[in-house]
Amino acid sequence: MSTRYGSRKFYLRFQSNFNVITCSLLEVLECSVISIDFVLIVLLSAFWVMLPAYLPNPVAALCGGGVPVDLGRNFSDGKRVLGDGKTYRGLIAGIAAGILIGLVQVWLQGRFGWQFLPQQTLLSITLLSVGALLGDMVKSFFKRRLGKERGAKWPVADMYDLVLGAFFLLLVFDTAWLFSAVTLPVLITILIMTPVLHRAVNIIGFIIKVKEVPW
Ligand code: CTP
Ligand code: MG
Repeated sequence: MSTRYGSRKFYLRFQSNFNVITCSLLEVLECSVISIDFVLIVLLSAFWVMLPAYLPNPVAALCGGGVPVDLGRNFSDGKRVLGDGKTYRGLIAGIAAGILIGLVQVWLQGRFGWQFLPQQTLLSITLLSVGALLGDMVKSFFKRRLGKERGAKWPVADMYDLVLGAFFLLLVFDTAWLFSAVTLPVLITILIMTPVLHRAVNIIGFIIKVKEVPW
């Protein structure tokens, strides 16, 4: 009798333990399914937000040349204000390319909705592409002040100049958009993704001889 009672107790305890384990496993599974969705959406969002800021630099490298933005003038320290690496042609072509890809994004969102992505606007795409090349020029200004030649390596600044420039303009002229589109996970993804893409694109640019150096 007592043996039967004991084995029933064991069975019940086993059953409840089994239930707890199954539920936990299901929860873990559910969590990981949600987080895969979450990670994908964050990755896509980061790329979607930054696309109008990513394109101007490679297009400037492709189309640049001719009259430099500083018109060849020197700063008070005797060094070039920006250098020959910043030209009007590169600036205009780069900004135009960023706005153009942004217009395609705006059109795609109007056509298909894609509510899971941050919604680009005419203002956001303009600020992103102008800001990217403005950041690039500000970086070159400080690069020259530090005595670094055109094309010299300046690792962190060379990679994040476009992010800083674009975010600065958004912060000043479209703060609400910046904070609604760039959530913390999106920001972290942008900070990781930018140097990776920057390096990859520059290596390609170097191989196809658009860039003189692979950075
Ligand atoms: N470029 C341009 N105009 C710009 C930005 C870039 O013409 N506003 C072109 C230049 O031909 C430049 C190339 O794109 O050499 C690569 O850009 P970047 O790496 O930013 O310039 P660097 O040559 O490295 O010059 P710096 O040291 O000032 O960054
Ligand atoms: Mg450079």
